[in-house]
Amino acid sequence: MPDQGLARELFGGDVLVASSPIDGRADDLLPDERAACARFAERRVREFATGRRCARQLLGQMGWTVFPLGRDAQRVPLWPPGVVGSISHTKDLCLVAVASTRDVAGLGVDVEGAEPLAPKLWSRICTPRERRWLEAQPQAERGRWAKLLFSVKECSYKAWFPLTRQRWGFQEIEIEFDPSRREFRVSMAGLEEHLGHPATGVYRRGRRWVMAGLSLPARDTP
Ligand SMILES: CC(C)(COP(=O)(O)OP(=O)(O)OC[C@H]1O[C@@H](n2cnc3c(N)ncnc32)[C@H](O)[C@@H]1OP(=O)(O)O)[C@@H](O)C(=O)NCCC(=O)NCCS
Repeated sequence: MPDQGLARELFGGDVLVASSPIDGRADDLLPDERAACARFAERRVREFATGRRCARQLLGQMGWTVFPLGRDAQRVPLWPPGVVGSISHTKDLCLVAVASTRDVAGLGVDVEGAEPLAPKLWSRICTPRERRWLEAQPQAERGRWAKLLFSVKECSYKAWFPLTRQRWGFQEIEIEFDPSRREFRVSMAGLEEHLGHPATGVYRRGRRWVMAGLSLPARDTP
């Protein structure tokens, strides 16, 4: 798939990334994982199994050959000791990223279809400041930027939530894009205080998908 390679551009060398079309099957899962998705609809089993298969491939590269990747009551994946990771799927693509906790304390990845976000959703996703930025973009581009804002916020939430267990809404995360570097800065309560500076992530806009990645360095977190 043409945009799939973009996933490898999201992180530096301390993060391993895998991507796959959504083609997983229940047979790909380890027994404990299969039990976790016993009540899922068929499509959800496919995405869950694809994510677990990609995760297994990456965990194997880190020396974990057989590790059932469970999840807690808040859906956070239960990575092996010393590993941090993140999973995302859209209807036709799955992305998984993992790293050692020696290097990375929080990791978030997100992929969404590249089609524009419907204007009626913009005010829910965007803060007033983001909304002003969006209005300054060429009209034909606004829906795709809004979709990317959504993706970046989901990715940031996934990186930060497992560390804090605190829920945020879309209005409590503020994003500033730097299109010249294809990066974003994220402001969330508590994050800047921990890092001592705003966190910076990477986004990519492809023909079929938009993607975002945020890695919070281990040395900068408590
Ligand atoms: C966590 C969340 C962001 C995931 O988004 P999603 O639309 O379900 O879609 P994705 O496919 O990209 O991600 C799903 C994966 O995220 C991971 N995930 C789920 N909840 C998570 C959490 N609280 N923290 C970290 N990762 C989480 C899981 O691995 C899940 O895949 P799996 O169930 O197959 O293992 C979203 O479901 C959610 O709970 N949001 C909370 C409220 C919110 O949206 N706040 C505003 C964000 S700014």
